Amino acid sequence: MVLTGQQILLGITGSIAAYKAAFLVRLLKKEGAEVKVILSPAAKDFVSPLTLATLSGNPVFSELVDEDGSDQWNNHVELGLWADRMIIAPATANTLAKMANGQCDNMILAAYLSAKCPVYVSPAMDLDMYKHPGTKENLSKLESFGNKVIPVGFGELASGLVGEGRMAEPQEIIDFLKKDIEDQSPLSGKKVLITAGPTYEPIDPVRFIGNRSSGKMGFALAQEAANLGAEVTLIHGPVHLSLNHGRINKIPIETAVEMLEAVQKVRDDMDVLIFSAAVADFRPATAAQEKIKKDKAETKIDLEMNPDILADTGANKKTGQILVGFALETENARENALSKLKRKNCDFLVLNTLKDEGAGFGHDTNKVSIINANNTWEDFELKSKQEVAKDIWNVLQNA
Ligand code: C5P
Repeated sequence: MVLTGQQILLGITGSIAAYKAAFLVRLLKKEGAEVKVILSPAAKDFVSPLTLATLSGNPVFSELVDEDGSDQWNNHVELGLWADRMIIAPATANTLAKMANGQCDNMILAAYLSAKCPVYVSPAMDLDMYKHPGTKENLSKLESFGNKVIPVGFGELASGLVGEGRMAEPQEIIDFLKKDIEDQSPLSGKKVLITAGPTYEPIDPVRFIGNRSSGKMGFALAQEAANLGAEVTLIHGPVHLSLNHGRINKIPIETAVEMLEAVQKVRDDMDVLIFSAAVADFRPATAAQEKIKKDKAETKIDLEMNPDILADTGANKKTGQILVGFALETENARENALSKLKRKNCDFLVLNTLKDEGAGFGHDTNKVSIINANNTWEDFELKSKQEVAKDIWNVLQNA
């Protein structure tokens, strides 16, 4: 669902339409969003903080400093930064005028000025106020700031007059929001599979053969794909990372064989498949059922090859699927990367380097080059893995 996991900051100002904001909170929650509410001082005459706190499941903010004598300062900057989207509904003529002029005499306005996220206003006022050139100018000024104006409805107004100025219905606000998010989500509707982290190949119940992969690159790729609107399946080996996003389904595995089985189950359905896992190439030919005693231990372990999950997926690639592999080459990097890309039937290969300080396994940064099947290369600077993930997704989106 488009709104799942979205953090929505709802500012409610003093209009009779404020009662509809309670329904809006309910619908946002039903869509899977997390909601925090700020009431303007005037809004409290129309709708109770208790109603909104109960519906949103979060404390409701109103004053910059709490009135309960605790002298608690409510951090509007934090709220503004917390929000993925801020909605002001209903937005009165007064609030719109203040927003358009950078005024800041309540908490909604302070959060608005601090917010870095997309902001939506849903105006509500009487028809003549709405028609007034001052209001029109304020609305176009807000649009020029990049804020989105949710169209008002036509109908009966609180004054008894009939005309334009009714706040959009809560469901219309939800639909507006969803469409806007979809328009800004280039991967919306796309299914993405990512493998990440190491695999552990058991020697006995307590020992294993593994590697130093942290999984950070694959997790950053998954996060970025979800931010761009994709539905992500993240199949990962043992890692010390947490990632919670409504559109990321994490499937933990331990061994290469388990990873292959998990990949095979879901891969036919995928649009983009990125194999960033550092799969162990070999596994012990037999894993002991009980812990091997030191005095009974052999000093060598027989190994057998693990399946190559990427090559297996390349050999079974469906029309239209984009397959991306990773490679870490220390010699003849470019030739080896190109031949790996061909051999494993990939569309792109991301070449990591171990030679650059701060790049590769375990680090928070990485330096990559991306090659496509036409042997075209793009080289990138050393960056955080989050930024590298953005670069990779940029290349894939423009493919
Ligand atoms: O052949 P090499 O191990 O260098 O290939 C690396 C690429 O292949 C990576 O994308 C890695 O995730 C994938 N791979 C795999 N299964 C293996 C070995 C590597 O999916 N057994």
